[in-house]
Amino acid sequence: MLAHGIDIVEVDRIRRMLDEHGESFRQRCFTAGEIAYCERGGRRDEHYAARFAAKEAVLKALGTGWSAGIAWTDVEVVLLPSGQPTVALRGKAAEIASVLGVKAWALSLSHTSGTAVASAIATGA
Ligand SMILES: CC(C)(COP(=O)(O)OP(=O)(O)OC[C@H]1O[C@@H](n2cnc3c(N)ncnc32)[C@H](O)[C@@H]1OP(=O)(O)O)[C@@H](O)C(=O)NCCC(=O)NCCS
Repeated sequence: MLAHGIDIVEVDRIRRMLDEHGESFRQRCFTAGEIAYCERGGRRDEHYAARFAAKEAVLKALGTGWSAGIAWTDVEVVLLPSGQPTVALRGKAAEIASVLGVKAWALSLSHTSGTAVASAIATGA
């Protein structure tokens, strides 16, 4: 294990962002694949909140914060066929992870109607 990050997000906060800023919030923070997943089914706000938490958790693991020029969409939550989530990085986030020697991620998400949490572990193998 190289690093660990964790984050917790209020689902209401994300619901408000979706209601008030709709498309601009989606496009700025989430990839097309994430949007497609979150918009299907009846737990839209929870899925978005969990992915928001995951992005923050990954940033904590990278140790840089958003000031390093990382875009929200540089960190993507991708689901394996089993439903297990993992992390795909691009852009500045991928560059920083490469310098740190990150080879893989272990990501876990959980959400209720009120709260979403994410834990992201970066590994070197
Ligand atoms: C994984 C599982 C235990 C989740 O438990 P839960 O208490 O209902 O829900 P939580 O809020 O704690 O967790 C939900 C998250 O678990 C993650 N998850 C789903 N399947 C997973 C798996 N096989 N392994 C690890 N994590 C998984 C997802 O990230 C999901 O959030 P998302 O849909 O926003 O991506 C449960 O869904 C399960 O047993 N799944 C087995 C696989 C399955 O039935 N898949 C059907 C998918 S339609």
